[in-house]
Amino acid sequence: MPARKKRLDKLHSTSSYTRNLIEASLDLFVTINAEGKITDVNKATEDVTGCTRGQLIGSDFSDYFTEPDKARVGYKKVFSEGYVRDFPLALRHKSGKVTDVLYNAIVSRNEAGEIQGIFAAARDVTEHNRMEEELKLRSELLDIASDSILLRDFEGNVLYANEAMYKTRGYTKDEFLKMNINNIITPGQALVLGQNAEEILKNGDVVFETNQIRKDGSKMLVEVHARLTEVRGRKLILSVTRDITRRKIMEEKLRDSERLATIGQTAGMVAHDIRNPLQSISGALYLMKSDIESMYESAVKKDLDGLLKSVEEDVTYINKIVGDLQDFTHQIKPDMRDVDIRSLLKEILKTISIPDNVKAAVKVSRIFNIHVDPDLMKRVFTNLVINAIQAMAKGGSLTIKAKKNEHDIVVSIVDTGVGIPEDVKPKLFTPLFTTKSKGQGFGLAVCKRIVEAHNGSISFESEIGKGTTFTVKIPNKD
Ligand SMILES: Nc1ncnc2c1ncn2[C@@H]1O[C@H](COP(=O)(O)OP(=O)(O)OP(=O)(O)O)[C@@H](O)[C@H]1O
Ligand SMILES: [Mg+2]
Repeated sequence: MPARKKRLDKLHSTSSYTRNLIEASLDLFVTINAEGKITDVNKATEDVTGCTRGQLIGSDFSDYFTEPDKARVGYKKVFSEGYVRDFPLALRHKSGKVTDVLYNAIVSRNEAGEIQGIFAAARDVTEHNRMEEELKLRSELLDIASDSILLRDFEGNVLYANEAMYKTRGYTKDEFLKMNINNIITPGQALVLGQNAEEILKNGDVVFETNQIRKDGSKMLVEVHARLTEVRGRKLILSVTRDITRRKIMEEKLRDSERLATIGQTAGMVAHDIRNPLQSISGALYLMKSDIESMYESAVKKDLDGLLKSVEEDVTYINKIVGDLQDFTHQIKPDMRDVDIRSLLKEILKTISIPDNVKAAVKVSRIFNIHVDPDLMKRVFTNLVINAIQAMAKGGSLTIKAKKNEHDIVVSIVDTGVGIPEDVKPKLFTPLFTTKSKGQGFGLAVCKRIVEAHNGSISFESEIGKGTTFTVKIPNKD
């Protein structure tokens, strides 16, 4: 074989080898002439555009992109700078499907070194972009989680932390990613951490409570659920941490309220059991009183009279306590009836002894009925009137007003007493809160329970030195 033919054959087989490589490539190869027309393509380009080689060759390169102008910018850049690298574009298949690509291109020259056109290679990055978007979405999802999520190695170095992790501890993301878990635990917890690491290796996961420290030095009580994970053959610890400070407070409150409920039940039982002997004491007192009345006037009779009076006062007081306790601990089931408001209020004033220095008056614009449980409502107004009188030790005036609105009936108890200090106001309806030496602190708590059992509301306004107005509103059934 002549040497020239041999050389030509070799050249031919080399170029067909190169051609095969280009055709087999998943990357897109295109050559473009100086006019921007395609001169050659490989199979991958046919696949992505949906056009045949014949259709592609001679057509305008820019037309196959979703943004032809941007493609032209890239194309011109190759001529001005000699190349482009990772130029992002999107190719449109004739069916409409879009493929994200990154273009790398250089100018191609002939043997004489003259520019002939461009040689461009593109990589399909659709999948890569999709994965990147998915990763971004996942990291955003982790960032909106209110629990703290952390990935660290067994030496404690932080590899990943979500927003809740670094923000709740007062760090920026960059600061936190450079940290070690030992920086955010109290010194005493280091040993526990070591034991936990062993447990994780043994059982795969562990749940524990611990104290962590924020950047400002304050502590937080947390519950950690940590588990073993493996990333590229490396054993790591993935953990979810929850701030349980509030939960602990709630648990404590719940325990307190359970304890109070038990105390309440016992108090209710005691009150119930005292009621019967109390009634016999009252009966006995009544008999003793009439016995003493029939005695001749004497020093002994006077003495006995005085003693009996004070025993009677004390019994009345015990009766009030027992009544309040029962109202407070029992479920209130109002027995609703229509009652005339004015007689209800007047009756209350009759049962309470009003000191001489207090001027009491009932002001009802017109007579109307109120739909309530009269016995329960009497207890409400009695408690409010007693409070008002007690607030006017130096005298004053007590006015009970009642009016009927479209939606409710409003009863106010107005006194000109000492008034209520600002710091006392929020505690007023709390059971057992009292400022009086002989007070129980049950009166208002009972009033509130009874009024609410009538679907009503109770409120007050008060000014130190001027007086207080308590207002009870009961829905108007008309
Ligand atoms: N009209 C008022 N003027 C000023 N302070 C008042 C008035 N009513 C209530 N208070 C304040 O509210 C507190 C709570 O009242 P509440 O009726 O619940 O209990 P108490 O009167 O102290 O005791 P109890 O009614 O059980 O004998 C009172 O101790 C008092 O400080
Ligand atoms: Mg009271």
